[in-house]
Amino acid sequence: MDKKKYEFAYEVYDDIHQLKNEDAHLLKEARLVTANAYAPYSNFHVAAVALLEDGQIVPGTNQENASYPVGTCAERVLLGILAALHPNVPIKSMAISYNSTEIKSDHPISPCGMCRQALLEYEARVNHPIRLILGGMEGKVIVIDTAKQLLPFAFTSNELK
Ligand code: THU
Repeated sequence: MDKKKYEFAYEVYDDIHQLKNEDAHLLKEARLVTANAYAPYSNFHVAAVALLEDGQIVPGTNQENASYPVGTCAERVLLGILAALHPNVPIKSMAISYNSTEIKSDHPISPCGMCRQALLEYEARVNHPIRLILGGMEGKVIVIDTAKQLLPFAFTSNELK
């Protein structure tokens, strides 16, 4: 029997002011764009904003539905927009933030399991890692080098060949 360990390194910053300018700008954008979420059921307004390798900044927000399972997370809304409007342009970084009328937005959130699967498919498709910058409206910020690290033992297209 072999015992194996999965671990990865990530960065934790005390707040947005410790980030390099490019990252701070993207997180600020994500904080602003939470205002465009459609989240009347959860009141949890999420924004995912991508900085593309060609310098463009593209936003996405969660889109809920009266039929709850129809709702889509900000990350997957963004990936759909990117695939349709900017096909094959690598994503340099993606900032994810949230705001709520009910709870404090003072710590980072990380993508849900379904979004992790979607993010790693996009990384494989464009052949480029997506750096994640995770932070609330205030408080600590986490930076992860590649979304793939968030989903060990992922199911990938390799299994279908
Ligand atoms: N949500 C996102 O958009 N991204 C995440 O990373 C976590 C959750 C959305 C889904 C739903 O509209 C609301 O947040 C509450 O779960």
